[in-house]
Parts: sequence; C-alpha cells; structure tokens
Amino acid sequence: MTLPSLPPSSQAAISARIPVDLGARSYEILIQDGLLDRIGQELRRLGMNSEAIIISNPVVKRLYGARVLKSLKAEGLRATIITVPEGEQAKSMKWLNAILDELLGRRCERNTWLLALGGGVVGDLAGLAASTYLRGIPLVQVPTTLVAQVDASIGGKTGVNHRLGKNLIGTFYQPRTVLIDPLVLKTLPVREYRAGLAEVIKYGVIADKEFFEFLEQHIGLVLEQESQRLHRVLQTSCSIKALVVSADEREGNRRRILNFGHTVGHALETVTGYRRYKHGEAVALGMIAASRLSVELGLSDDSVARRIRTLVRECNLPTDLPNCPAGVLIRVMRQDKKVKDQQIYFVLPTEIGHVTVLPVQDSQIRGCLTSTRRSSRPARSSRLAHAGRTV
Ligand SMILES: NC(=O)c1ccc[n+]([C@@H]2O[C@H](COP(=O)([O-])OP(=O)(O)OC[C@H]3O[C@@H](n4cnc5c(N)ncnc54)[C@H](O)[C@@H]3O)[C@@H](O)[C@H]2O)c1
Ligand SMILES: [Zn+2]
Repeated sequence: MTLPSLPPSSQAAISARIPVDLGARSYEILIQDGLLDRIGQELRRLGMNSEAIIISNPVVKRLYGARVLKSLKAEGLRATIITVPEGEQAKSMKWLNAILDELLGRRCERNTWLLALGGGVVGDLAGLAASTYLRGIPLVQVPTTLVAQVDASIGGKTGVNHRLGKNLIGTFYQPRTVLIDPLVLKTLPVREYRAGLAEVIKYGVIADKEFFEFLEQHIGLVLEQESQRLHRVLQTSCSIKALVVSADEREGNRRRILNFGHTVGHALETVTGYRRYKHGEAVALGMIAASRLSVELGLSDDSVARRIRTLVRECNLPTDLPNCPAGVLIRVMRQDKKVKDQQIYFVLPTEIGHVTVLPVQDSQIRGCLTSTRRSSRPARSSRLAHAGRTV
C-alpha cells in the first residue's frame, strides 16, 4: 500500500492534516499538541455557527470538559456537555435514547453539532445519535484514548450493543472532522494506552513494513509517549486507517484487512465475557495466533510470527492464549457476524507489511490455537458463560 508522504520526523511534533477521501463526505484528521484549546477555531473554520452538544463521560468531562467549553465560547459558540456513564454499558439503546431525549427536550435543530469527547465508547454512541437525530446532524470526533485516536474515530462506524452481541445496532456515518490532541493521552491509564498499541502494531503488519521496524526500534520511547515518536505513531496509524476506509467505506473486501488479529481476538473477548481482556489485549493474542497460523499454512516464514510476538511482549500485552478449548473458540468464531457461508476467514501476514485474507479449515485453526497456548492462567468455567453469543 502506498502511503501519503509524512512530514520529516523533525517536524512531526508540530501538526498533521490527514485526508479521509470519501467524495462528498471527505474530511480531515487533525493532529496537534494542545488542539483541545483550538477546537472552537477549527469548528468555525468548518462552518459551525450555532450550538454544540458535547457527549462525554464523567472522567473525561472532569479532565477536559472545561477546556473544550472555553475554546468554543471564545469563538462565540454555545455549548453544553451531556454525560453518559463510564464504560461499555453506555453503548446501549438506553443511553442512545437518553441522548435523543435530551436533544429533543432542548429543541435542537439540524444546525446543532454533536461533539464526541472521549474514547471509542463515547464516539460510537455519539456517532449513532448524530446519524439518527433529525436524520443526521453534523458530528465531530474528539478522541481521547489511543484506540479512539487511531481507530474508532476514523471511518464512520457507529453503534451500540445488543444483549445478543456487540455493535449489532449501528450506522455508517462520517464525522465532519477528527480532532486529535496527543497530550490527552498523558492521563490515560497505562493499560488502556498499551491496549491501543495492539491496533498500532496491527497497522504495521497489514500495511507498512517501515512503520513496523520503527516500532521495533523505538518501542521504549513510544511507551513513554515521547512526543516525536507518538506523533509518528498517530500520523502513520491514522493515514493507514484513512486509506483503507477511503478505498472501502462500507466494509467490502478491502477493509477486511483491518480485522487482522480480530478473528481470534473477538472470540476470546466473547468466551471471557468481555471481562478478562481489553479489546486490544485480545487483538494482540489474535495477531499472534494468526501469524502462527500463517507459518503453519506455509504462507510466511517463522521470523514474521516471532517479530510480532516480540513486539507484542515488549508492549506488555499478553502473548499466551488462555487455556480455553480450541473447539469452543472455533464455535464462537463461526457465530461472528462477519462469517460468510460458514467459512472462517483469517487475515494472514505473508510478510511484515502484507496480508492476505483466506478461509481456514477447523483442523488448521485448532492446531495453531493449541501451539499458541502456553502456560497462562486457565479460563474459569464461569468465564465461558457467554460462549454462545455473537460479537
Ligand atoms: N467505530 C469503530 O470503528 C471502532 C473501532 C475500534 C473500537 N471501537 C469501539 O470502541 C470502544 C472501545 O474504545 P476505548 O478503548 O477508547 O474505550 P473507552 O471509550 O471505554 O475508554 C477507556 C477508558 O478510558 C477513559 N478515558 C478516556 N479518555 C481518557 C483520558 N484522556 N484520560 C483518562 N481516562 C480516559 C474512559 O473513561 C474509559 O474508562 C469499544 O466499544 C469498541 O467497540 C469502535
Ligand atoms: Zn480493534
């Protein structure tokens, strides 16, 4: 994949504008230290001239709400913050309805802009609210976790969960812009930051060998959030996501490469009831399993799987599959909403920077799951309670 040229690393700390090319729905991702204090200016530039409703959660509101309000007010823009609870529970019809009730109660009109200030949970929920209220009002993503900055805020997938599975109700709805302030990651719990790095490693494997090598060489400074390295991580990850989404907005074939590590990752999240692993941690294990599978299928040499595993381990992400029967994981994989014709597809690296998408036989999956498993904590049987649910 050819990437747009990035600024030299000496300038990387300044700022970047990354286009997401989608015809009439095109927009830019802006990355800049301190951008939170310039949100008002950016939204004015985009033509906002009325009211903004900011959707956030209590943690993010307490940390950053006042700064965003101040920035909007400085531009003469009215704004109010609505909070939803912390955590995945907020991605529900109940909280979608609560937001819609609030918008209707305030008689918000079509020129009201909705700002999602928070992680992927807030972004997905606010995105769905924006896409449905009055058949669509302008949406701006202001992601505050690494997962949201490099993944969830870009590409227009919105959604809430249903009791039968995650993200089953949603829309494709693009934001007007994505405003990324890397400095907000300083307050992110370290486990959340590391989970985001799994998606970052994913981008290197699926599309950019040089970026993967950069991560191998600088992972210590990336973990410390050193400014230049962090900017490179954000710029490259966002550029790759933007390119993939531009080529395939609605998840046809091309966008499937973004699912590297997710076939096994989603199954692990499901069988452990979404409690044991952060999404990124499950994806890290999924990447290790898929890269082993690729070696076992003769699609790549052993060094590819070893390098992925080493980088994952250096990020302090899990590397050993839990002691869950391979048959249970395979059954859950088959129930995934992305499964076609009962075939389980895997995104498999052929070398660092290149992947292929193939259906894989159960026996082959079983072999790789067993060989990826080592002596990690066994999954208790109660953790398998959700094994029948789809993701
Ligand atoms: N739409 C997409 O394409 C897409 C892609 C990936 C993930 N997702 C969704 O995103 C969600 C996960 O997102 P997430 O990992 O950002 O989790 P999250 O939104 O739950 O945020 C994680 C935690 O970090 C806290 N937080 C957020 N920003 C903070 C900050 N700057 N400082 C301190 N604490 C902060 C939050 O309050 C929360 O406790 C899942 O629901 C997933 O389905 C969507
Ligand atoms: Zn993911």
